[in-house]
Amino acid sequence: MKRKYQLTAKNADIYDLYEQSVQSVEFEVEFINKMFKRYNRGICLDIREDFCSSAFISTEWVKAKNKNAYAVDIDKSALKIAHEKAKNRISKEQLNRLFLIKGNSLNVKLKKVNCILATNFSYWVFKERESLKKYFFNTYNNLKKNGIFILDAFGGYEAHQELEEKTKHKNFTYVWDQSSFNPINNDLTCYIHFEFNDGSKINKAFKYDWRLWSLPEITECLKAAGFKQVDIYMQGWDKKKDEESDKFYCVKKCDADAGWIAYIVALR
Ligand SMILES: C[S@@+](CC[C@H](N)C(=O)[O-])C[C@H]1O[C@@H](n2cnc3c(N)ncnc32)[C@H](O)[C@@H]1O
Repeated sequence: MKRKYQLTAKNADIYDLYEQSVQSVEFEVEFINKMFKRYNRGICLDIREDFCSSAFISTEWVKAKNKNAYAVDIDKSALKIAHEKAKNRISKEQLNRLFLIKGNSLNVKLKKVNCILATNFSYWVFKERESLKKYFFNTYNNLKKNGIFILDAFGGYEAHQELEEKTKHKNFTYVWDQSSFNPINNDLTCYIHFEFNDGSKINKAFKYDWRLWSLPEITECLKAAGFKQVDIYMQGWDKKKDEESDKFYCVKKCDADAGWIAYIVALR
């Protein structure tokens, strides 16, 4: 009789669990292409994925013919994992168009690209206004003339709370832990934990030491860095399912929801 494989803290790969829990790379690739169409910016060929970690978006990006991805992370071990994963996901030819670069997104200088991405709030590592502006200035300078910078943000009053949120997946539970928040400077420390059906756990699989930035602050810093237009795309609500939908809408005003996620689209 075949023994049933069970996912546990011992055999789980935290990068796989992370990707399954918080990433949706087909959606992100589609979103980039949609934005280039919407703003008449031509075809997006080359992207730079900042704070890439396992470079999942870049790996998906190079599946399209002739497209290149430059994936940047400060952590050499994350890039090693990215390379291992990419080898199993894409062909050799596609792998040749994926460039994994160890660098600091704050000041990295590469070939200019059509689009730069900073997803899952990773740029919140820059806690001072000056460093945030410096990072945005770097993205501005490393985009081609018609380039687009896409980043995201979360907020709402729940973002200011210390709380734990569990999401059940088939073989594990994803735990988002907003462990501490300081209203004086908006310092926010978060963890991701994973729990398994056999009762085992991976505590503090990932740690984030961030500043919770607001949309007007981010917009102001992007404009100060030179971006001529900054649009906010808020996640929609699926009334039938009573949950967030997979659609994002460009809005100037929205409800003060308890928790929201938005894409920020900055045009060079
Ligand atoms: C939350 S993960 C991002 C994963 C992925 N981009 C996503 O959208 O889910 C954050 C990554 O940012 C990297 N990182 C932190 N500070 C950085 C910096 N200044 N420059 C480049 N990478 C940085 C970390 O090593 C980590 O791999």
